[in-house]
Amino acid sequence: MRATSAPVRLADYRPYPFRLEAVALHFSLDEERTLVEGKLDFVPEQQDVDLILDGLGLELLALELDDAPLAAADYQLSDTRLIIPAALLSGRTNFTLQIQVAIYPASNLALEGLYKSHSMLCTQCEAEGFRRIMFYPDRPDVMSRFRVAISGAAARYPVMLSNGNLISEEEENGIRHVVWEDPIHKPCYLFALVAGQLERVADSFTTASGRKVALHMYVEEHNLNKCRHALKSLKKAMGWDELAYGREYDLDLFQIVATDDFNSGAMENKGLNIFNSECVLAHPDSSADDDYLMIEAIVAHEYFHNWSGNRVTLRDWFQLSLKEGFTVFRENQFVAAMHSAKTKRVEEALLICTSQFAEDASPLRHPVRPASYQQIRNFYTLTVYEKGAEVIRMLHTLLGETAFRQGTDLYFARHDGEAVRIEEFIACMCEASGKNLDQFMRWYTTAGTPRVKVDMEYDPTRHCCHITLTQSIKHAPNASPLHIPVATALFSTSGKQIGAPRLLELTHKTQRFTFGNVHEMPTPSLLRGFSAPVDLDFAYNNEQLHLLLEHEDDGYIRWKAAQKIKTDALLAAIGSWPQPHQSANTGLERIYQALLVQKLKLIPHSDDDKALLSLLLALPGYNYLAEQQQRVAVSATWHSHRYAMARLGTDFASQWQELATSHRPSKNFKADFSQIVKRRIHLQALSFLEAGVEMLSEDTWKRYLSANNMTQREQALETLVWHHDSSYREQALAHFYQKAQKDTALAGRWLELQACIPATDTCELVAKLTHHPLFDWHNPNKLRSLIGFFANRNPIGFHTSGGHEFFTDCILHIDSYNPQIAAPMATPLYRWRRFETHLSKSLQQQLIRLDNSDISADLREGVNKSLAHA
Ligand code: ARG
Ligand code: ZN
Repeated sequence: MRATSAPVRLADYRPYPFRLEAVALHFSLDEERTLVEGKLDFVPEQQDVDLILDGLGLELLALELDDAPLAAADYQLSDTRLIIPAALLSGRTNFTLQIQVAIYPASNLALEGLYKSHSMLCTQCEAEGFRRIMFYPDRPDVMSRFRVAISGAAARYPVMLSNGNLISEEEENGIRHVVWEDPIHKPCYLFALVAGQLERVADSFTTASGRKVALHMYVEEHNLNKCRHALKSLKKAMGWDELAYGREYDLDLFQIVATDDFNSGAMENKGLNIFNSECVLAHPDSSADDDYLMIEAIVAHEYFHNWSGNRVTLRDWFQLSLKEGFTVFRENQFVAAMHSAKTKRVEEALLICTSQFAEDASPLRHPVRPASYQQIRNFYTLTVYEKGAEVIRMLHTLLGETAFRQGTDLYFARHDGEAVRIEEFIACMCEASGKNLDQFMRWYTTAGTPRVKVDMEYDPTRHCCHITLTQSIKHAPNASPLHIPVATALFSTSGKQIGAPRLLELTHKTQRFTFGNVHEMPTPSLLRGFSAPVDLDFAYNNEQLHLLLEHEDDGYIRWKAAQKIKTDALLAAIGSWPQPHQSANTGLERIYQALLVQKLKLIPHSDDDKALLSLLLALPGYNYLAEQQQRVAVSATWHSHRYAMARLGTDFASQWQELATSHRPSKNFKADFSQIVKRRIHLQALSFLEAGVEMLSEDTWKRYLSANNMTQREQALETLVWHHDSSYREQALAHFYQKAQKDTALAGRWLELQACIPATDTCELVAKLTHHPLFDWHNPNKLRSLIGFFANRNPIGFHTSGGHEFFTDCILHIDSYNPQIAAPMATPLYRWRRFETHLSKSLQQQLIRLDNSDISADLREGVNKSLAHA
């Protein structure tokens, strides 16, 4: 059997013909078989229409309409739907449907709906998981009030949580009963239930208007010492949203739960956020600095959804970016405000240029608001999230902070309690600013990366210069022009800014902008702050790039200039590999000379500048370099990168040493930004040094042993395991295994370390590890650590015919029980056309194998698209 599903189209949207006044659910918990009763109060909004409810894998036990039992002949039941025919409903101005179903949490390996994770039961409903719990109109525009009663063995389920407020709790004959009520209308994708032996860490937050909100975080007992950071982050986020957006939390209780088995990072269920434990639990022994930062960002992101997503929700799933793009933007602003605005922006640009552009170049490219989908689960993408956030950021740039804030105030006030479209958001922005955004809307409907070509002419007689901008999209040659903000400044040869910076608004295919009062041929600084998610094409020469690196104060431009110099050199080296490329070497020498020896303005004082320094010093990564090539030369790219690291390590050894010494981490570990930046530079310098040596010294091993935090330990460990001198590899892995056995977060790291060993036979090691007790086919984090890291972070190991085949075996297996993990994980196969010929053929073969197999609708969508499209 081949799974196929008819595409869902935005153009086919119809409102649901019934209003759902109230929902009462009762769960009788049992991990093998849970009984769920639903009482749904409907009011017809149209006459003579069938009531269609979604349902998946539900065992229907009983069905009553206004207290009268229905017989099987009265309704239609299929694999995915329950239909109550219009004839049965006619004449009723309102009616109640009572439904009883049985569900099977312990055998739910898709981790959607209600499932078991260790000894706890928990839910994940976005996007369409609620249909695995109850027959229901599973769509975001059907909102209702939920009352949830839960019963179960008190010994197994001492904690029973759902959304909203706790109304009652009691225990009788070893059975515990609780009732929760959520006063806020919500769509069912925001429903949540958690039950199990959990411990609670409590805190509180007082809102701007003086209301005290209880903050409860629930974890398994052994994780009690890992909660502080998340709670601290939550309070920061709550305070920031009040100041930056005027948004207060609306209930008296906010709950967070951590679970080890979770398909994505976290979920913003109303008043009861559920997190993948990797995205919320932190401790110096198991979390590196970047984990601390990631957790803070994700906790904030989920919290911000309370307004952007929950209070104002989506009309349909095509509008996903309305909540995700906007919320990522809010998260980005928050992170920038907490730490370093400059580096945050560079990191965002890097993510877009490396990964989102790659998505745009792939057969799965789609607009921020797709017009059709087979499986909405396939659209939780970088395009919807990250490019969606860039689109909001452009609005912010075009409107300015004041009008933008007026626009969001209007949006939240006008649409509170509603399920809306992107149009409603844009209309508020229009009203607040008086700006026409009709053309701007095209950002939501146009797929692909826009390229902006820049031509500059200097007119010495009129003392002016003309900048001509031309836009095009490779994959959409007939697309209508977009509204693109290009923030621009001009620089003189001596590095002075000429005139004031300008925001050029490119709205035509080609447009010329004139700058007066220019007395020499200037160097343009284009796309300052990465003002639009576009690929900029201007023929800078090296002198101009060095000038911008030295004299701009825009962090993105400085980084981009350095990145361009390094990338050009590396691409030249890749082209001539294995022959050395002389000018590539000198290009790299010169920029590191500038950065490390002349140090430009960089003996930075602020943490912000230090963090930027670290980004300036980094070599472009493998994936970034791959993205710059027509067809990726895998081995040449990897080797050229490694060779460059090694050479820079040796050539600048004394400078790296000096940098490492001047940024020696303090002995008392704290995960504050100032310490983080210090460790970052220190470890980066050590990494260059270590790349340069033929044989590792015992120092690295000692550093591993003596580290008092995961950040320093991890850098040493990676060196010991991945270095071409592999003499410490076994001993390091064996030692770390002792720690990994005691902590599942570290078990993941232990698998990742091995999955990434850059050797052509790593595939065999990875295959062996799939039988190791620390691996678990049913745990998404372990799948990502072992299989995901192998395919995405180990080009040398993955790109062998054995690697491709083994990986495809894994995808097929995982897809048979958890398509939501398998389908996105198969991305390296979807991109088969991007690789040099022999690899491309081998990847294609594996795709054809998938095509001929019995696969899920999720995977089918990707496989079909990637085999069909050029
Ligand atoms: N809404 C969640 C977030 O905050 C993600 C949900 C992921 N769901 C999915 N089906 N992939 O981003
Ligand atoms: Zn989100």
